[in-house]
Amino acid sequence: MKMFIQTGTRGISTYQFKMNMAVTLTNTHHSTLCIPSLLKQSQLLGGFNVSSSFRSLSSSSARSKPVVSALEIGGVTIDKDDVVKDDPTNNVPDSIYTKLGLQLHKRDKHPLGILKNAIHSYFDTNYSGKFVKFDDLCPIVSAKENFDDVLVPADHVSRSYNDTYYIDAQTVLRCHTSAHQAELLRNGHTHFLVTGDVYRRDSIDSTHYPVFHQMEGVRVFSPDEWEASSKDGTTYAAEDLKKCLEGLARHLFGAVEMRWVDTYFPFTEPSFELEIFFQEKWLEVLGCGVTEQEILKRSGNVDKVAWAFGLGLERLAMVLFEIPDIRLFWTSDERFTSQFSKGQLGVKFKPFSKFPPCYKDMSFWISDSFTENNLCEIVRAVAGDLAEEVQLIDNFTNKKGMTSHCYRIAYRSMERSLTDEEINQLQFNVREEVESKLKVVLR
Ligand code: DAH
Repeated sequence: MKMFIQTGTRGISTYQFKMNMAVTLTNTHHSTLCIPSLLKQSQLLGGFNVSSSFRSLSSSSARSKPVVSALEIGGVTIDKDDVVKDDPTNNVPDSIYTKLGLQLHKRDKHPLGILKNAIHSYFDTNYSGKFVKFDDLCPIVSAKENFDDVLVPADHVSRSYNDTYYIDAQTVLRCHTSAHQAELLRNGHTHFLVTGDVYRRDSIDSTHYPVFHQMEGVRVFSPDEWEASSKDGTTYAAEDLKKCLEGLARHLFGAVEMRWVDTYFPFTEPSFELEIFFQEKWLEVLGCGVTEQEILKRSGNVDKVAWAFGLGLERLAMVLFEIPDIRLFWTSDERFTSQFSKGQLGVKFKPFSKFPPCYKDMSFWISDSFTENNLCEIVRAVAGDLAEEVQLIDNFTNKKGMTSHCYRIAYRSMERSLTDEEINQLQFNVREEVESKLKVVLR
């Protein structure tokens, strides 16, 4: 059973406990991580130079496999063998290594790059360029940066090997851009935006992909800023945060209805989610809150107050550009890429044609160690982006206490029709891998 509803900032965050979510109404609206074990961090973050150097050596095509087996990050070469290791403390598959360094958010004509630029311009306009932007910080971070530095509890589910990609016991592929908060604060930054690729082991469907993109924003206040008002620091920061983010939502979505929902994050108190009413539904747009004092204290910002937010770029881009499937962001098919241009936010994507899905079912007796994320990893390893959805369609326990699961796998290409032969082969390979790697008994 999942304790947390994990749809990332593409839905409800891993970092939230779905508990007692009370809706607070605003008055303005109706309801309204680098490889520490390999490299010195300073080398990799390159002194936080905005135009620094996490440059991809991999193929320019997001779809094809890179021909190189090394990436250059901050002038340091990282070999594939440093990231994908045959070791029990490593769970990074080849398919994830191939995504490192692609940095879709840095492509000006890609929906994610267009969205990032639109958010940057909102901050530039409203804060006269005060927000420093980082968009090539290395996604390989220490577990300390990813979790401890932002106060994620020691027993939090997001730390598990089932949820996070570990390079070794101390090193992970960041699972959120919050991993950079503490270090940037320590370095004296008071206004910053961090955009980057983040990595999570997850289920397979049209809105979930093991690599997606987030943007983190942080603003620090000194006592003189709130002392002039009659408010305490936390109230002052929370009000400023809400005003800033409501403005951002309007900048992106136009005159929409919004509401604030109280929630929980380990790094903020109070914590909120912003939702907008869009196409007849309430849509979660981002998570945010007033930064925990402990984070500020540890980073040398005693007596200060700060706010922070994190948003998922795919989630917003899928709505703004009407992109129906998250895999499309990774395609290099011109029928997708040619539809977007620099600076054009919200051009509606026209599906070039919809190829039929093919469904295959698979039943097995599970063992205690079985997890759906492990199954999905195998399906992705075999079928890559041809896997559209993996869905549990039947689940029962017999009198002997044995539990059976039946999963339905939808195979579909975004680009072409698949042959029966091809799909049968994929399903055959998935079954073989599942049987040999997951300690389950196929039925
Ligand atoms: N790190 C959160 C996530 O990945 C998003 C987030 C929520 C970031 C609240 C923040 C914040 O900075 O204050 O789901």
